[in-house]
Amino acid sequence: MTGLTDVEAATAEVVRTYDRMAPVYDALDAIYEWSWKRRLRAELFRHAEGRILDVGVGTGCNMPFYPADSEVVGIDSSRRMLAEARERATRLGRSVTLRQMNLLQLDYPDHTFDTVAATFVLLCLPEALIPAALAELVRVTRPEGRLLLLDYHLSSRPAARLWMRCLSPWLRWAFAARYDAGTEHHVEAAGLRVVERRSFAVDSVTMIVARPG
Ligand SMILES: C[S@@+](CC[C@H](N)C(=O)[O-])C[C@H]1O[C@@H](n2cnc3c(N)ncnc32)[C@H](O)[C@@H]1O
Repeated sequence: MTGLTDVEAATAEVVRTYDRMAPVYDALDAIYEWSWKRRLRAELFRHAEGRILDVGVGTGCNMPFYPADSEVVGIDSSRRMLAEARERATRLGRSVTLRQMNLLQLDYPDHTFDTVAATFVLLCLPEALIPAALAELVRVTRPEGRLLLLDYHLSSRPAARLWMRCLSPWLRWAFAARYDAGTEHHVEAAGLRVVERRSFAVDSVTMIVARPG
């Protein structure tokens, strides 16, 4: 169980940042979204089925890739990101339940969802809280369900790594995020069995499909 103070401290900066950035988030990310992120979202959500939880739903960039027949809940700690997501759901004609919530303390019983997705979200947490975050995602996933993760990590290629280090202060300021979250190192320790792991974008993004147990 994660202490309330740790959780509040970790999320206060995130909430402030995303409430501030929500109106311009899509414009700032557009070049990445259209050049490669959409392709990865499409690949990842091919593994989604049944009742889906999209944690850190943001402005709803995953929405176009939810399977048509699925029931989806999106949660986010930022009220203003959720407002953008609500607008996108309306534009796309998708019915998505959107709730303000912290992914470290999900207000759902154990084993509620068939698929739990976190795309570019765990990189907002301090490394020390990533095991607790993964444990919380596993808790709400059905035993036969799956977790879908997309996250940055520092590229193994020196030029790309240097570029990422140069961009890090901007990423911290604009998105309360970091490139060296290291999510993939915690996946197996969280009791997850990796079904598929792939790297993209000059080895700076990892896609993980995993199952509990
Ligand atoms: C970089 S954005 C990614 C949004 C979306 N998942 C995507 O792929 O475009 C990170 C999102 O995660 C949310 N977030 C970060 N930490 C969170 C937490 N502890 N609980 C809930 N949402 C969180 C932020 O508010 C933000 O909307």
